[in-house]
Amino acid sequence: MFISLEGIDGSGKSTQARLLADHIRDTGREVVLTREPGGSPGAEEIRRLLVEGASERWSAETELLLFTAARRDHLERTIRPALARGAVVVSDRFADSSRVYQGTARADLRGQVDRLHALMIGVEPDLTLVIDADPETALGRGKARNAGEDRFENMGLPFQSRLRAGFLALAAEAPDRVRVIDGRGGVDDVAARVRAAVDAVAPAPRA
Ligand code: TYD
Repeated sequence: MFISLEGIDGSGKSTQARLLADHIRDTGREVVLTREPGGSPGAEEIRRLLVEGASERWSAETELLLFTAARRDHLERTIRPALARGAVVVSDRFADSSRVYQGTARADLRGQVDRLHALMIGVEPDLTLVIDADPETALGRGKARNAGEDRFENMGLPFQSRLRAGFLALAAEAPDRVRVIDGRGGVDDVAARVRAAVDAVAPAPRA
């Protein structure tokens, strides 16, 4: 099973991805916890080009190509081998981030994003959880934490609001795959909502 977590910067999805991986591991399954951009040695090198430096460093088009290159390497080296041996893959971001960041929030590139995805990636997670958070609160969190990896946070609050709307629209577009999780409240409250959403789709095997 392949699960992705999505959300705006500072939404808490990275913490939730880790807790979900722990939960699935506790049920006795092998879990590979991974992230984008990154998740394989080559993709982690590309990551630095994307998350560091000035906001205007890359155009949205160039960014899309770099994210797709990183995703292809991640898929080849990490995701496919893990799924092939029966592991559950939990990825902190996947293709929906490109659909929303490059496809709608930064520029109107959704057509190019979809064509490139079909051409070079071609797989979707079985389940995607969008951790929905208030853009202002989330931006404050992200900035406090991501010193040096703040290229997207520096695009500002209106950008984060467009991202949130983009993720909610995507969930409406693909309701069978994408579930919205209320990201308000404590970490444990949100983790319980995440577990409930996953268990509804893939009940834990009985020991
Ligand atoms: P991430 O490491 O998830 O940052 P954070 O933990 O702060 O949420 O992702 C880095 C940035 O890259 C993030 O701002 C979102 C952006 N991004 C895209 O714009 N397109 C993509 O396809 C992906 C995977 C990430």
